[in-house]
Amino acid sequence: MSAAAHLTGLFSLEGRTAVVTGGSSGIGRAIAAALAGAGARTVLVARDADRLEQAAAAMRADGGDVAVVPADLGDREAVRAAAEAVVAVAGEPDVVVSAAGVNLRPPMAEIDEAVWDATMRLNLDAPFLLGQRFGPGMAERGYGRLIAISSQQAHRAFVSSGAYGVSKAALEGLARSQAEAWSSSGVTSNVLVPGFVLTPLNARLQQDPERVAALAARTMVGRNGVPDDFATAALFLASPASGYVTGQSIHVDGGFSVH
Ligand SMILES: NC(=O)c1ccc[n+]([C@@H]2O[C@H](COP(=O)([O-])OP(=O)(O)OC[C@H]3O[C@@H](n4cnc5c(N)ncnc54)[C@H](OP(=O)(O)O)[C@@H]3O)[C@@H](O)[C@H]2O)c1
Repeated sequence: MSAAAHLTGLFSLEGRTAVVTGGSSGIGRAIAAALAGAGARTVLVARDADRLEQAAAAMRADGGDVAVVPADLGDREAVRAAAEAVVAVAGEPDVVVSAAGVNLRPPMAEIDEAVWDATMRLNLDAPFLLGQRFGPGMAERGYGRLIAISSQQAHRAFVSSGAYGVSKAALEGLARSQAEAWSSSGVTSNVLVPGFVLTPLNARLQQDPERVAALAARTMVGRNGVPDDFATAALFLASPASGYVTGQSIHVDGGFSVH
């Protein structure tokens, strides 16, 4: 077998279907573009329909087969409806990437139940519900990849981690539980753990150049993350190449977590 054919066998997603929540922006968008670029029929899910269409159009211009499902995943019924809408446009998915997330940062003493619930619904409940909907079918078919985007705040408190850090720590626990349930049937579940990534999510913090530079200096690579850093890591986790990697929290952070 040629080297090219070998690599294609390892990393191609031709004939696969992928869903990426938060696929219209930042880390999710970069991951969606990578999965579509590897041949997956890819469905982007987020709230803002215009932004979804813009992202999908850019991916289609690069040859991707991309559809969109506008949905607010902060609502359980809407998550269930979105899952069925995904199936209606693309069939049962082989890869589910949960990148949609919210980071509300009131000081701990000011976190009320509304902040707690909004955080848990999007960051934890949505990945759980999507896993419950799609994991068993993946297991029956013998191939599946559940991938979620966690945060270094799953591992340490950082700028009022509050409910957010809790949700991300639980998300990593969810991945281990899913891995335990379905890995023997060909379904892996893993999370990518970013450090500080330059995306709209932390636009406010980015207005402080000294803080941004200090965060970059804390990495080993010497810069903060960019969305494309997650594209190849997610492609590995989505592809046949990663079949023996499951239940893991993989830090993609330029060495931030070990410095
Ligand atoms: N940036 C960082 O430094 C960093 C660090 C650690 C972890 N993360 C994690 O990485 C993931 C992606 O974040 P990002 O930095 O790429 O942020 P981003 O650029 O702001 O993208 C967030 C995406 O999630 C979607 N989204 C937000 N709320 C939603 C909802 N209720 N229902 C459906 N979709 C929703 C957004 O679209 P709509 O607004 O149109 O819905 C958008 O597509 C998040 O889980 C975040 O916690 C980021």
